[in-house]
Amino acid sequence: MSTGPGSDVRWHDQKVTTQMRVEAMRQRGGCIWFTGLSGAGKSTLANALDVALHAAGTKTYLLDGDNLRHGLCRDLGMSEADRVENIRRVGEVAKLMADAGLLVLCAFISPYRRDRDRLREQFAPGAFVEVHVATPLDSCEERDPKGLYRKARQGLIRDFTGLDSPYEAPLAPELVIDTSREPLDSSLQRLLVFCGR
Ligand code: ADX
Repeated sequence: MSTGPGSDVRWHDQKVTTQMRVEAMRQRGGCIWFTGLSGAGKSTLANALDVALHAAGTKTYLLDGDNLRHGLCRDLGMSEADRVENIRRVGEVAKLMADAGLLVLCAFISPYRRDRDRLREQFAPGAFVEVHVATPLDSCEERDPKGLYRKARQGLIRDFTGLDSPYEAPLAPELVIDTSREPLDSSLQRLLVFCGR
């Protein structure tokens, strides 16, 4: 992977500015980032929020780990280097979409704190909201919606988050949601309040 654009590539200023897009879209773009273990409920929460915001007229887009790994990130595995690259790519897409004026909802395990913090730094203050879906490992494993924990315990999947691959919880997320303790409706209300709805 190249580390930068090199001296022969120059940035072109664009004539339609972010502010012009804000006026056209009648909303400011941003990113709601859901992080947590596999099976914690990230996709369910992000989808519920997407539906509610969409119904309220907010222009949104949902980026989901499992889905992006079918396309943009299909060449990436689950090693540390590949997960870092996964989040870098997805973060770049989220930034572009947010600059275009969308409220982008992102649901990724995103296990490394430094990757999420780096992303936050690239958004304007307040435009990046980190939601820690803090459902404990034993609940995620008990649910095991895709049967992946079972496979991982059998040694059929390596580098599984929470088992033999690390998960670094956020230190100061805007919201913490434990889906094993809070019903979806209540979490959704808290999310909507946070989004100003
Ligand atoms: S991330 O770590 O790079 O952020 P991402 O959110 O894109 O991961 O993808 C996670 C999804 O991949 C999980 O929801 C799960 O369905 C699947 N998966 C496959 N292998 C693994 C693994 N080793 N660890 C965690 N999730 C895995």
